[in-house]
Amino acid sequence: MIGIGIVGCGTIAKHRHVPEFSMNSDSRIIGYFNPNKNKSEILAAQYGGKVYTTYEDMLKDKAIDAFCICSPNKYHASDSIAAMNAGKHVLVEKPMAVSMEEGDAMIETASRNNRLLMVAHDMKFEYAIKKAKEIIKSGELGKILSFRTTLAHGGPEHWATEKGINSWFFKKENASDGVLGDLGVHKAHLIAWLIDDFIVEIKAFSAVLDKRNENGNFVDTEDNSICLLRSKSGIIGTLTVSWTNYGEMDKSTVLYCTNGTIEIYCHPDAPLIVTKKSKERICHTFENQNNSGVADAFINSIKNNLSSEVSGEEALRALRVILGCIEASEKNSTVTIKC
Ligand SMILES: NC(=O)c1ccc[n+]([C@@H]2O[C@H](COP(=O)([O-])OP(=O)(O)OC[C@H]3O[C@@H](n4cnc5c(N)ncnc54)[C@H](O)[C@@H]3O)[C@@H](O)[C@H]2O)c1
Repeated sequence: MIGIGIVGCGTIAKHRHVPEFSMNSDSRIIGYFNPNKNKSEILAAQYGGKVYTTYEDMLKDKAIDAFCICSPNKYHASDSIAAMNAGKHVLVEKPMAVSMEEGDAMIETASRNNRLLMVAHDMKFEYAIKKAKEIIKSGELGKILSFRTTLAHGGPEHWATEKGINSWFFKKENASDGVLGDLGVHKAHLIAWLIDDFIVEIKAFSAVLDKRNENGNFVDTEDNSICLLRSKSGIIGTLTVSWTNYGEMDKSTVLYCTNGTIEIYCHPDAPLIVTKKSKERICHTFENQNNSGVADAFINSIKNNLSSEVSGEEALRALRVILGCIEASEKNSTVTIKC
């Protein structure tokens, strides 16, 4: 049985990781840490486990084999590094860190301590995405030429536990990368995985267009970003992210290939539609997915001594793309990435 410690008891912990670790028959939640103890107590009452007053107490607990880090972005690196130095495996929420230096240090710490580091980029575990990857790998649609990928919803003030415009997501010192760090990093990770290539060139426009604080001034972090990406092999595409989509959430991706098109989450009737050059159209539907698959993948890797299903290296490449998008927008110039 793998003992789990939950760090940060906000929305993602409550709605995803805690229920999913509880459901996994090879893991047991040992306890929770949150600066506001009330949130830990609520989870402990519902799912069992202790409440730690300090992070240091939690690090010392030998019953914990692995940490699940769900704190605000600026704590991800320091919390993960401390956990791995204490001999714990780490599942950390995205973005894995707020700088390349922090990400590098996390990877180095995992390797030095021989610990598993997994980043919670959950999209690659979704049924429609996994099927799309399978179709791409089969080669039946030929070569990928270009793509567009989007992630857009109404903003974290509707999601995070601290509701409203005072959410940490809108403070640069906590969230650092605004909508790109929150949503863009998911799509930067996903698209690189789907096309099996490295993003090497970026142009971008980012802006804060709508989110305002209580004084009526714009918040610190950008709420919209549109980026142009080119991969090492020459695939080109757009990555669009928004916190100001007040309609239905848009998480669509389209891949244009030499022998047809793959549309993921573009149509309400089918999450995955493949249209061949011949105009044959195949609609794929899937059972409802009630588990992100992240906790299960993490536990499976620890239990069977397998490599991480979302490694620090691949998550760091996604962060590099996002930091590149921010730089490209700020400098109004093209950013190139060495790989
Ligand atoms: N994978 C996904 O789809 C997904 C979705 C949402 C959020 N996230 C990520 O999960 C993380 C948490 O987001 P959330 O939406 O749950 O936010 P949230 O604000 O609801 O929760 C964050 C929690 O961390 C606590 N906290 C603050 N400082 C802390 C510290 N130093 N140590 C430990 N806990 C601390 C807060 O009190 C709060 O309870 C973020 O990094 C976010 O990017 C991922």
